[in-house]
Amino acid sequence: MLEEQLKQINDEVLACTQCGLRKERHQVVFGSGNPQAPVFIVGEAPGFEEDKTGVAFVGKSGQLLEKILLACNFSREKEVYMGNIVKCRPPHNRTPSIQEQAACLPYLTRQIEIIRPKIIILLGSVALKAFFGPSSRITRERGIWKNWFQYPVMPTYHPSALLRNPTLKRDAWEDFKKVIVRYRELVDSQHACKYI
Ligand code: URA
Repeated sequence: MLEEQLKQINDEVLACTQCGLRKERHQVVFGSGNPQAPVFIVGEAPGFEEDKTGVAFVGKSGQLLEKILLACNFSREKEVYMGNIVKCRPPHNRTPSIQEQAACLPYLTRQIEIIRPKIIILLGSVALKAFFGPSSRITRERGIWKNWFQYPVMPTYHPSALLRNPTLKRDAWEDFKKVIVRYRELVDSQHACKYI
């Protein structure tokens, strides 16, 4: 049932002509993970590897994200679903324009409504601004719980920022530790994590 609802949106995305990104992309990166996931992770846009494979977060950023998730004892198969603000790769990995984001965001919000996660994690400035408006600042707002409708939201740095500037990793890990604490409160009080 959830899968069917998601497939309906996927079909719409495949036929989408709302913006120009479809012209240069190879694959739509719809989003992936457990449709019943309690944690929904939102990135910015597919990169080279994602465009090639059609799977979110499989390139360098994805590999770092995977390590962080492993440290949290979260997996894509079980606790996590991942998607992006836009589903088609912007040429040369440029930031998706406001118009492209606005065209694509309704697909993501519908995915969230179907999956109904307990926690949303926003990775980076583009995701934060898409949800909370252009005056949001990731450096100021990361690590602080926010609400988006009924959903608790944790903004944190995008893994590509952590790759560019590894000194940010310490802060990002503090943010993920807050997610684990909240996860234990909202989803599974027994959730194991050897670091916290
Ligand atoms: N960066 C993102 O924001 N999303 C991906 O899927 C891959 C890299």
